[in-house]
Amino acid sequence: MEFKNKLKEYQEIVEKELEKNVRKNKCLEERLNNSMEYSLMAGGKRLRPILVIATYELFKKDIEKCFPYSVAIEMVHTFSLIHDDLPGIDNDDLRRGKPTNHKKFDEATAILAGDALLNNSYMIISEDIKKSSNEEIQNKLRIFNEFSYAIDRMIAGEYVDTEFEGKKIEKEELEYIHKNKTGALIKLPVRMGAILANASEEEIEELSNYADKIGLAFQIKDDILSEVGDEKILGKPVGNDKELEKCTYVSKYGLEGAQNILNEITNEAMKILDKYGEKAKFLRQLVLYIKNRNK
Ligand code: IPE
Ligand code: IPE
Ligand code: MG
Ligand code: MG
Repeated sequence: MEFKNKLKEYQEIVEKELEKNVRKNKCLEERLNNSMEYSLMAGGKRLRPILVIATYELFKKDIEKCFPYSVAIEMVHTFSLIHDDLPGIDNDDLRRGKPTNHKKFDEATAILAGDALLNNSYMIISEDIKKSSNEEIQNKLRIFNEFSYAIDRMIAGEYVDTEFEGKKIEKEELEYIHKNKTGALIKLPVRMGAILANASEEEIEELSNYADKIGLAFQIKDDILSEVGDEKILGKPVGNDKELEKCTYVSKYGLEGAQNILNEITNEAMKILDKYGEKAKFLRQLVLYIKNRNK
């Protein structure tokens, strides 16, 4: 129960911050702005922005310093979902329990809403850097740089994911897809939180190892839910990976095989946090949440 409350508390913080950054101006591109808002504010677990804040909280309390970075990563994630659902990629009709962006609006608007969300994320981070003191700037430029590299990896992963549809895949190739298309945007917020909090290089690396594990676990669970999830709870289609002959942990190892790998990786992720003790309770429980989630 304690975990659920904490998660809810974090989600509420994120929702509030996102709301502040949604464009509402009435202008010629009002419909484009509405389409960005439609997907950004459609719910979602807000895992990535929460990871920035929860990692920062291992070291420091003034979490408002994380907010621009939390908002930016959720915008990028939402952009990736809008484009992932497009007819040319996964061709899905349902996302976050609602019609996908291109179904609600149209393809051109969905493509441009994604582009605009991506660019807005850079605007928000660069604004924060502009306002920062000299001693903070170096750290924040490092984050800005890592931010751009992680997005590059997500796009690469999405590309390879589509390239392998219907093909036979090796273990390493499948790991490559998952590590990039999903892992990159899960490792990034953990690193952003740690770097923002001035963690040591050793701590940043340790937490990155944790993030690598939960990133892979997250996508393996996504693969499992695409097979046996409940569409109503999940808020997105079930059976779509099979239909497109996607290479997933389920297609390669079977349901039980995928579940076994998921169990193994989540155990490893929990162990990495042992040395942080009570402080890391939320991040440790988050591993179980990822493993057991049904949405
Ligand atoms: C879905 O991400 C896409 C993947 C990378 C697997 P989430 O499951 O975090 O989606 P939301 O944000 O909660 O809708
Ligand atoms: C999600 O991959 C990865 C990104 C959107 C970057 P999937 O295509 O497997 O995720 P869902 O199942 O549509 O959310
Ligand atoms: Mg996809
Ligand atoms: Mg998809």
